[in-house]
Order: sequence, then structure tokens, then C-alpha cells
Amino acid sequence: MPAAPAPEGVAEVLVVVGAATYHRRSVRKRTAFPMLEGVRVQPIISIRQLSKTYASGFQALKPIDLTINRGEIFALLGPNGAGKTTLISIICGIVNPSSGSVLADGHDVVREYRAAREKIGLVPQELTTDAFETVWNTVSFSRGLFGKSANPAHVEKVLRDLALWNKKDNKIITLSGGMKRRVMIAKALSHEPRILFLDEPTAGVDVDLRRDMWVMVRALRATGVTVILTTHYIDEAEEMADRIGVINKGELILVEGKTALMEKLGRRQLTLQLQAPLVRIPEAMSGYPLELSADGLQLVYTYDAQGESTGIDVLLRRLAEAGIDFKDLKTSQSSLEDIFVSLVRERA
Ligand SMILES: Nc1ncnc2c1ncn2[C@@H]1O[C@H](COP(=O)(O)OP(=O)(O)O)[C@@H](O)[C@H]1O
Ligand SMILES: [Mg+2]
Repeated sequence: MPAAPAPEGVAEVLVVVGAATYHRRSVRKRTAFPMLEGVRVQPIISIRQLSKTYASGFQALKPIDLTINRGEIFALLGPNGAGKTTLISIICGIVNPSSGSVLADGHDVVREYRAAREKIGLVPQELTTDAFETVWNTVSFSRGLFGKSANPAHVEKVLRDLALWNKKDNKIITLSGGMKRRVMIAKALSHEPRILFLDEPTAGVDVDLRRDMWVMVRALRATGVTVILTTHYIDEAEEMADRIGVINKGELILVEGKTALMEKLGRRQLTLQLQAPLVRIPEAMSGYPLELSADGLQLVYTYDAQGESTGIDVLLRRLAEAGIDFKDLKTSQSSLEDIFVSLVRERA
């Protein structure tokens, strides 16, 4: 579809809803994915009303609608058991959906399984490889499974990029855990996928591998590969993602640009331990986001850590003016757990 070049500062978003396609132009001060500024955002994965109930009767996914854009890094964030692996497994054609549909680069993942699967590389959460095969053979064989002709130059590049080249003749069984994980990534990249799924890529890996993984993901994105990773580490999502989806108990409760979400995650609390109990928050302080504990001895102030001003200095001055003394104070950052709880409560 031809599109007029977008004026500076205007992001054009192509929205596809059912059969109807329309353009929406929105003016943004700052875009959540700078590399896409002024560029038409195209969906590469379209998920519509996708749900999953396992044979046990357990509903692992409630109906989900989600679009992943071409060339973005999307992080699916959620606690254990949220349904992350289930969602990825359906997109990769490993698990059948109970309802709904998924298009991967234009191919229905159920009806056009082979065509869809060819576009996708998957690094599963559980590492499984043939222990007695060499690194070289494992990766080359994986390419063959997708019906691609042998391409030793590509396999060599992948192994070099993952610092596996000097291990190419080693049997998998002789490798460390981190090296095995690199082999899994090499396998997933062997057939030159356009979409790469990394399911908990850095759970239990050492700091070096984690850093290498991040560098590798960025390098892949630079070549136009769309990357979807699951994680339960906030810092990982913060470091890597253009957009973040939060999933909890099978429900996709939020999809947002990273910057916007991190502003939410940035909420902090200041807890003041008072000298003497208060019956209520004084009138003069009523404009502040303050909460008093039931025993009247703790005053909790919630503020935005990313904001220009935390307001703590003014708060403490007002408290002093009101004659409220405190003997101790501490600050805490809202945890992912807190955020899930508040998100779920908001949407209850
Ligand atoms: N084959 C299965 N049969 C029944 N329940 C399953 C199956 N696989 C996963 N589940 C359940 O579905 C929920 C979501 O699991 P999963 O997608 O692995 O979550 P996550 O990857 O976010 O930790 C969990 O409660 C899990 O126990
Ligand atoms: Mg999982």
C-alpha cells in the first residue's frame, strides 16, 4: 500500500482491524521506538482472540489480541505460570490454540504451518539437543530440517557471532551450560528466520552470557529480525525492549512502549516512622499522596522516581511546619509484583 512520507515528528501507524484497514496519524513528542520514527509500522505477527485451554481443563490463555511490529524487540513480561511459554508455543505451532488465529509474516500458523514456521526461530526455555553430536552438525542439521539448502558460510557466521567457532567440532555434551545455550541460539538462527523467539533467554545464565545475549539481540534487530523475548526480569525488559506486554494468569493486561511502562515501574515509596501516632493526616497535607498506617505511626508517600521532582523536600518541610516529627525514614521501589498487583486490581 503506497503511503505518503510522514512529516517530521509524525508517526504513521497502520492499523488492521478485521477486514477494515485504516491509517491513523498521531503526533507524538517522543516515540517509544525511535528507530521506527517516521516509518510505517507494519505488523509481522497478528494475534486475534487467541485462547488456550489445556486438556486438563486449565485455561492457560484468555482471549488475546496482540500485534507485533516488524523489526521491533518485544518483551513479554510475566510471573511464572502466566502463560508466556504457552503463547510462544502456539505462535511457533508447537501447541494448538483452542480458539483464535495467529498470522506470522502473513501465514496462518495452523493452516500454513510450514510456511509460518520457516519464518520463525525459537530458542525454547528447556534446552534439548543431541548430546553426542558436534556443534557444527547440530546447527547444520537444524537448517536442513527447514528444507533450506546447506550454507556453510551462514553456519560459520552464526557460530562466529556466538563465539562458538572454536567449539564447532566439540560434542554438545562437553560444553558448559552457557555454551549449550549459545548452541540453541545458533540452531534457532540456522535457517535465517525473520522472527526470533527467546523464551527466558537469560534465566540462570552468567553475567557474560547475559551481556552477549543483549548485544546479539540488538545486532539481529539491526539486520531487520523481529525479536520476541519472555522474561521475568524487569531490568532485561528495560534494557532491551521497544515495547512490553505484561501477561498475568493468562491475561494480557497491558501492552505499552517501554518508556511509558518504565515510568509506571518507577514509582517509589517513602515511609516515615513517626515519633508520635497521628489520628489522621493533617488538613494542610491533604493534597499529598499520603497514606497513614492503621496504628498511626507510619506515613507512606508515593512518588514518581522518574519525574523531574520527587516532591520529597517540600513534603518534609510541610511536615516540619505541621509539627510532625519522624524518627526514621526509608524508601522502596515498587517491585514487579506490586505492579502486577496494581495492574490486576485496576482491571478487575
Ligand atoms: N501441557 C499442559 N497441560 C496443562 N497445563 C499446562 C500445560 N502446560 C502449561 N500448563 C499450565 O499453564 C500455565 C501457563 O504455563 P506457561 O505457559 O508455561 O507459563 P510461563 O511460561 O509464563 O511460566 C501454568 O499454570 C502451567 O502449569
Ligand atoms: Mg515459560
